[in-house]
Amino acid sequence: MRAGVVALRPIRLRDAGDWSQIRQRDQQHLERWEPTAPGSWADRNGFWSWPPQWMALRGLARRGQSLPFVITADGDYAGQITLGNVIRASLRSAWIGYWVSSTSVDGGVATAAVSLLVDHAFGPAGLHRIEATVRPENEPSIRVLTKTGFRQEGLFQRYLDVAGDWRDHLCFAITAEETGPGLVARLVQEGRAERV
Ligand code: ACO
Repeated sequence: MRAGVVALRPIRLRDAGDWSQIRQRDQQHLERWEPTAPGSWADRNGFWSWPPQWMALRGLARRGQSLPFVITADGDYAGQITLGNVIRASLRSAWIGYWVSSTSVDGGVATAAVSLLVDHAFGPAGLHRIEATVRPENEPSIRVLTKTGFRQEGLFQRYLDVAGDWRDHLCFAITAEETGPGLVARLVQEGRAERV
């Protein structure tokens, strides 16, 4: 499957319909990788759950603590990707997290989205280090990180309350010095993407 044209754009209040419809349908695909939260999946991902989440994310973004984006493929809503816990000063670091709709996986969407956001983080956003934590069982996500040049740095034991229990997570990271001409440029050089 070909991903199509992958782009990132800011989250919008009017994403509620797409966000809710995809996440309700994709419970099996998403829930086992996401932080434990109160209430049923249906309640947490209903249409009216998006406005408070959007407002909270927008508030963090306005304070410079988060950069939340929608991933689009050929203009359609395909998932979300976020830089969180943005720290400035001498750390200049953030974590990255993402999910892609079950109907958009297996075409390189996440690889392209991570490449776009890491380039943005090390360019206009002025960061130096991005971390990603991922469950050892999450092979598709580990492949995304490895393909984009993240290095495995360690294992955090019982790190995060995910899908109802404390789960070990591998810690991956990349720093600005490791991206050379940029991750998107690298994808293009390797023939895995074209610029449009
Ligand atoms: N053209 C065509 N096909 C391609 C291209 C391309 N340029 N690039 C890759 N592909 C194919 C490949 O077969 C690739 O698999 P492989 O290279 O590993 O063999 C496959 O598409 C997958 O594409 P990716 O970009 O690697 O990933 P995908 O878009 O399928 O999304 C993800 C992976 C995000 C893990 C998805 O499965 C998902 O959302 N899972 C549930 C939520 C989740 O686990 N999120 C991550 C949590 S951990 C974290 O956020 C750090």
